Amino acid sequence: MKAEPMLKDGALQGKTMIVTGGGTGLGRSMVKYFLELGANVVICSRKLDVLEKTANELMQETGGHVLPIACDVRKYNEIEAMLQATLDKFGKVDVLLNNAAGNFVSPTERLSHKAFDVITDIVLKGSYNCTLALGKHWIEQKQPATILNIVTTYAWTGSGYVVPSACAKAGVLAMTRSLASEWAKYGIRSNAIAPGPFPTEGAWTRLFPKQLADKLDPVKRIPVGRFGEHQELANLAAYLVSDYAAFVNGEVVTIDGGEWLYGAGEFNAFDLIPQEMWDAMEKQMRGKGQ
Ligand code: HXC
Ligand code: NAP
Repeated sequence: MKAEPMLKDGALQGKTMIVTGGGTGLGRSMVKYFLELGANVVICSRKLDVLEKTANELMQETGGHVLPIACDVRKYNEIEAMLQATLDKFGKVDVLLNNAAGNFVSPTERLSHKAFDVITDIVLKGSYNCTLALGKHWIEQKQPATILNIVTTYAWTGSGYVVPSACAKAGVLAMTRSLASEWAKYGIRSNAIAPGPFPTEGAWTRLFPKQLADKLDPVKRIPVGRFGEHQELANLAAYLVSDYAAFVNGEVVTIDGGEWLYGAGEFNAFDLIPQEMWDAMEKQMRGKGQ
């Protein structure tokens, strides 16, 4: 299957968006679609060379406007500077997409406190830093706006081996829902997306190292039998930040092919049982009530 772009042409025309971690992976794919829909996009992360390359490629491919800015989301002053540069270039900002993240798999007892910090600082502190800086600006300017946070399905289930990420994403989820209530009166919506596995270099090199690939095939855990396509996520993100979603506030949309529920349902592993075995078991079980 090849997912098609979903929204009408011009659905994001006139909007300016800041996308953290927009130079690579899912951020880049979402940015591409936002540009195709008419938005101006600021992309930020730590590596300016990566951002500049992405900006040039996407401007060529889409004809849209991209401003690449080096900004470490852990540093509040760098976010304020990014906001000012955005206002200087585009005059306003309408959307914040908190997408930047850091992650690696490890048994928790092997982590140093610094290893824990490095993940929670990028994911939780980075998201609240950006949200606070933009929120203050929007409230002062009396400007309606929207925030979209990329979390994960284990933000609410938790997950072993990625505990700092799970803690941080759970915090971002709590922030999403809290601000949906508190800031709606200022015209600021706050939503989140919880993606299941979507192949990216960033995630795959850190979370599914080669040695694991043969032992644990992540596709086997996904009822629809495949990974997500970037365009599918981009479609959902574009909808949630667009005015079509003006009444959607405080929602977290899961897009994982049914993966997390499959892991949770008591009998879902019975998928492995062949028809002949069902026949035999049915014979054995039926009539036991008499
Ligand atoms: C244990 C580790 C470790 C590991 C690093 N550390 N890797 N500990 N196991 N595998 C420890 C180090 O020893 C150090 O602590 C501390 O972490 C910080 O190390 P640094 O050298 O500063 O970090 P570095 O390893 O260079 O980088 C870590 C990172 C980097 C900052 C997180 O990988 C990064 O920039 N990531 C950004 C992109 C990313 O992670 N993308 C994936 C997102 S995917 P000490 O005490 O020894 O100094 C995602 C998807 C989830 O979130 C859902 C998928 C289905
Ligand atoms: P990715 O390409 O590695 O994206 C992470 C981005 O964050 C990078 O562009 C990185 O750029 C940026 N970043 C890291 N630290 C930063 C910092 N301190 N300041 C600013 N930017 C920083 O991985 P991805 O798979 O596309 O992940 C994107 C988002 O989707 C993340 O929130 C991730 O948790 C989420 N997600 C992904 C999956 C998946 O299957 N891929 C599943 C669920 C959720 P620099 O290195 O240049 O800073």
